[in-house]
Amino acid sequence: MKKRVTTLAETALLADNFAKTIKKGDVVVLNGDLGAGKTTFTQHVLRALGVKDIVNSPTFAILKSYKGKFLFEHIDAYRINLDEAIEIGLDEVLSKKDRVFFIEWAQNIEPLVPRKRKVVNIKYINETTREFEINE
Ligand SMILES: Nc1ncnc2c1ncn2[C@@H]1O[C@H](COP(=O)(O)OP(=O)(O)OP(=O)(O)O)[C@@H](O)[C@H]1O
Ligand SMILES: [Mg+2]
Repeated sequence: MKKRVTTLAETALLADNFAKTIKKGDVVVLNGDLGAGKTTFTQHVLRALGVKDIVNSPTFAILKSYKGKFLFEHIDAYRINLDEAIEIGLDEVLSKKDRVFFIEWAQNIEPLVPRKRKVVNIKYINETTREFEINE
């Protein structure tokens, strides 16, 4: 599915619909440049799935855990490589089947990311416009 959205509200709507397809054990890989909207989209999906305490803390974190309809792990691998990911135990986290993963910059830790995944490609068009390509 390919869709161009021109507002944040439209992105939120897309996220709401995507949230309906999420099942326990799903791995969602989000691709796109810095500022494309991977975190924004993920936060809307989490909210749609009952997560209440989403804070955009300025402190950078590689892994953030949330509880809502499912257990969620939001991974941002931008600043790490494969060795570092293993060092902090991401391989073990990613082997768990009882939760739902959202992964940004998955290419940095590709060998650890399950092959069965939903892929969300986000392309920056202009300040408020994005092109989403979602493969469930
Ligand atoms: N239609 C839109 N959809 C998503 N984000 C939008 C849209 N319009 C504007 N934005 C803004 O674009 C920015 C996207 O930032 P976000 O942190 O989500 O990007 P990211 O892909 O996670 O980047 P990074 O790789 O640095 O983690 C936010 O400030 C958001 O408000
Ligand atoms: Mg991000």
